[in-house]
Amino acid sequence: YEIYLNGMTGAVPRLPTDLTRLEELTEQRLGPGPVGYVAGSAGNGSTARANREALDRRRIVPRMLRDVHERDLSVEVLGHRLPAPLALAPVGVLSIMHPEGESAAARAAAARGVPYILSSASSTPMEQVAKEMGDGQRWFQLYWAKDRDVTKSFLDRAKASGFTALVVTLDTPLLAWRPRDLDQAYLPFLHGVGTANYFSDPAFLAGLAKPVHEDPNAAVMHFVGMFADPAKTWPDLAFLRENWDGPIVLKGILHPDDARRAADAGMDGVVVSNHGGRQVAGSVAAADALPRVVEAVGDRLTVLFDSGIRTGDDIFKALALGAEAVLVGRPYAYGLGLDGQAGVDHVIRCLLAELDLTLALSGHAGPGTLTPDDLIEETA
Ligand code: FNR
Repeated sequence: YEIYLNGMTGAVPRLPTDLTRLEELTEQRLGPGPVGYVAGSAGNGSTARANREALDRRRIVPRMLRDVHERDLSVEVLGHRLPAPLALAPVGVLSIMHPEGESAAARAAAARGVPYILSSASSTPMEQVAKEMGDGQRWFQLYWAKDRDVTKSFLDRAKASGFTALVVTLDTPLLAWRPRDLDQAYLPFLHGVGTANYFSDPAFLAGLAKPVHEDPNAAVMHFVGMFADPAKTWPDLAFLRENWDGPIVLKGILHPDDARRAADAGMDGVVVSNHGGRQVAGSVAAADALPRVVEAVGDRLTVLFDSGIRTGDDIFKALALGAEAVLVGRPYAYGLGLDGQAGVDHVIRCLLAELDLTLALSGHAGPGTLTPDDLIEETA
């Protein structure tokens, strides 16, 4: 009720509570370059649109008279109790949105008890972000470098910095065909802002003939060559399992057979995700892939979900389809662009307040009672 009560006194939120307006506002504030990179998606945008359509097509069937006066959004994920089924997705190069970039986003997450997943392509070294989070829950997202020494060095640094879970992104061994980046020649990685996490890595730096400041172009090319590796196959996961004691979650899983292979390889979870529609144009919508993955491995693995979450009712739907928690990407990046840490906090609070109300008004006192029967799927 806080926002309604504030309204009575004339205090309106600094940012809109309709989070779908944030992209346009951020573009007005920061211009088309940075927003083009964040909003952009693969090909003609069909996967990003399909992500939305698959969520919109599913409709909630509310239940009545079920005593929802006391509610609890908390869930158990990967051995930790989270205050709500939400984490901030790994989003690289956040300094294009705000000078405090990942640090501001991570502080906002830590203050609400929401896990923050730090990108390998962070514009701030992981040690610094970790320090700013205090005892906030942090997971590390790995872009799995070509060089084992660099991968090992990243894992060791993440461990030493208190990152608990490892999120290995498998859907980006190459950057996709993204027309908005190609047409604007705006790839922040190549302009240096996404490389700080690499440029602070001793194993990465050891591979350079000259210090970064003496030959910055060679350093960037080394980064591009190191970033990820399209030659990897399933048996390579053994290396990560041997070098990471905590939970490992594979991000970018869409096929049930891949989910089964993840379980067979000793992984702890998957994120059903198509990278927010940024990788494979024409891909299955993430919400359409989710039920098949849950059916295949729901009893063996933690199943998380992202791609297209914009509202509390979207979170409700993903949970009803069997996800244990969701990640959100672009909305918090825009919140960061508009108002730094406070903007990210606004996005987290709006999503959770709307989820709480959607659950209550649909007859659920918490996520635990949701099942696929709480949705119907509209047919065209
Ligand atoms: C991403 N995403 C991403 N994923 C990842 O594993 N590592 C990364 O560095 C990035 N970087 C990144 C940058 C930007 C600008 C965006 C928009 C996305 C993907 C991200 O983690 C997540 O899968 C999607 O953003 C989820 O979709 P929505 O919530 O943006 O629709």
